This record gives sequence, C-alpha cells and structure tokens, in this order.
Amino acid sequence: MVRVAELVAPGIAAIQPYQPGKPIEELERELGPSLPAGGVIKLASNENPLGPSPRARAVLLGAVADVHRYPDGSAFALRRALADARPGVRYEELVVGNGSNEILDLLVRTFCRPGDEVIAPAQTFACYQLSAQAHGVDYREVARGSDFVYDLDALGHAVGPKTRMVFLANPDNPTGAYASREAVERLMARLPEQVIFAVDEAYCDYAVAPDYPDTLTLHRLHPLTVTLRTFSKIYGLAGLRCGWAVAPAEMVAYLDRVRNPFNVNSLAQVAAIAALGDQDHLQRSRRLNAEGMVQLRAGLERLGVSYLPSQCNFLLVDVAPREGRRVFDVLLGRGVIVRPVASYRLPHHLRVTIGTADENHRFLDALTAALA
Ligand SMILES: Cc1ncc(COP(=O)(O)O)c(C=O)c1O
Repeated sequence: MVRVAELVAPGIAAIQPYQPGKPIEELERELGPSLPAGGVIKLASNENPLGPSPRARAVLLGAVADVHRYPDGSAFALRRALADARPGVRYEELVVGNGSNEILDLLVRTFCRPGDEVIAPAQTFACYQLSAQAHGVDYREVARGSDFVYDLDALGHAVGPKTRMVFLANPDNPTGAYASREAVERLMARLPEQVIFAVDEAYCDYAVAPDYPDTLTLHRLHPLTVTLRTFSKIYGLAGLRCGWAVAPAEMVAYLDRVRNPFNVNSLAQVAAIAALGDQDHLQRSRRLNAEGMVQLRAGLERLGVSYLPSQCNFLLVDVAPREGRRVFDVLLGRGVIVRPVASYRLPHHLRVTIGTADENHRFLDALTAALA
C-alpha cells in the first residue's frame, strides 16, 4: 500500500499549516447557549471594522447578475484604475492576485529555484516562509534589534550568493514595527542587482510615522523591486480576495505565465475599482483606527499591560507571565476573538486588531477579567 507521506515533497511535509483567525461562526457554534449578550466580536485578522466601502457594496449588487461570465483574465479595468490612481505606475507594471498572498507565492514560484534562498526579518509574516518551503526554496531569518525593531543593515549584510529574494513587511505583521525611508533606501542601494526586493505594504494606509516610505516612489534605487498591496485591510474587501503589486514589466510578464488564468474573480475586480475611488471610506477608516489606537493604548496602560508601538491596525500585546493561549481562551469564553501568536515564537503575546469603540471596549473588559 502506497504511503502518501512518501509521495509528498520534503519541504511540504515540514510545513505547519497557516493558522487563520478563528471565524465568528465557529465560536458561535462552540459557545451555543452560553453566547454572551453582545454576541461574538472578532479582532483577530486585521479586518476593517467599518466593513467594505459603501461604493463597493453598491457595485457588487449590480455585478452579481454577471457571475455566469468568466472574469476578465487580464483585469484590464482594475489595472487601468490602479495605474490612473498612482501616477508613475504603468499598466504593464501591475499584477493583481487572489489576495496579495497569491502574488507573494507567485513571486517565489516564478523566480526562485531549489537551492536558492529567501531571507526576511525574524518573526515576520508567516506566508513568506510557507511559500519558500512549499516550493523547495531555503528560508533564512535575519535577527532584529531589541523590542522587535527592524535592523535593515543586518538584512542587507545577510544577503549571500544564494539569496534570490528579500521579503520585508513594511509595516510588519505581527509586530507592527516599520522601517524608515532612510533605512529602506540604504538597503535598496546595497542589494545586488539580481536580488528581488519584495516589499509587502499590506498595512501602508494605516502608517502615520513621518519617515514611513512609500516604496512605489523608490523603485529606481533597485530595479528588481516589487511593492505588494492589498484590498483586504483598509479597503475592507478581505473576503473577496484581491491584492496587487507593482514590478518591472518583464517580471509581470513571467508572473502572467504562471498565475491561474482567472485568479481574481469578477466581483472582486469591480468592488476593488469602486473601493479605490472611495476616499471618504478611506478617511473614515483611518480616523477610526487612530481613535481606536488611543483608546486601546489607554486601556492597556490602565491595566499595566505593555504593547509594542504599531503603525498598523493592530497592537501586539504582552500578557507575560501568562501564556497568550490561556488569555485567548478566556477571551473566547467572553465572545472576543483575538490572535494568539505562539507560532511566531511569541508565546506570551496576543495580536489584537483595532475595532470600533464598542469592540475595543468589550476587548478591554474581557481582558480585565482574564487578567484578574
Ligand atoms: C503583512 C501581510 N501581508 C500580506 C497579507 C495577505 O493579505 P491578502 O492576501 O488578504 O491580500 C497579510 C494578511 O494578513 C499580511 O498581514
């Protein structure tokens, strides 16, 4: 009898599956009759608590009538809209994907060979390592400074003859840390020309630090730079799965050979175009996040709980000496889903998405009880 375990590629056998945030419906099922009065709230996946942009909602209703048609495989209108929204970015330099996750995976699949190496800061977004492992590519972590700050000089020094790609989440998930313009420019200037620099800016719309860089303006410093963005976070379209990236046109042409022909569905394409033009929703989302950040920080400080500075829509909260998983379980019992991060070697932390004022309040109440 053939053992499936003998058929699977060694890199894949070693993969620990990605642990997504716990779905609301799952906790509702588990809590059953003991569901708290306010129901379940989810502050686990860095989603926009305001929901999708009203403009996106409106176009989605109309687009449903056409779902018997295949989507536009070239995503012409969406790529055109993105190019128009970003002066200096050409249509040919744009690739869209089933979430930015698909694009980062495509980058590894398309440009890395077995024996090549991908490097990234330690304890960063898990999917870079997952993609490398899945495609038989070595993955190496580079140490950070104290308190999880980025050390891009160390990242630059770590580049070796096998390095094909450098991933940088800016700002970072799960720490919320960011790299300054100056540090990014220095890294880009020193990268060997054959190394791909993939900058994942999933949370860029929340970053408020004055020296936070928009790498779309910096590609000239290192031609093999790819900037990845997503509609899943501030645009509130996580469920539709749509991300985009800007890369040299020649790279985009190779990614086009590898990606699935209809990787971005038709509803996602129209909703993304509408959301892109909804400045009102963007501004309200930014404001809500800034206010929620103040509320959560004040609440945590009252409780004597420390957290890392964050440029994102979440905080990494330190519940030591308690196990993050234990606190997570108590919060679940109160209908509050946050994210344990032990898989990032952070057994005493929890990642908490900034929600509406009511949601933040419920989290702080539940945390108070959990720490008592
Ligand atoms: C840093 C980072 N990059 C990329 C993603 C993937 O986003 P999506 O595939 O929904 O575009 C996430 C999602 O949490 C993230 O935190």
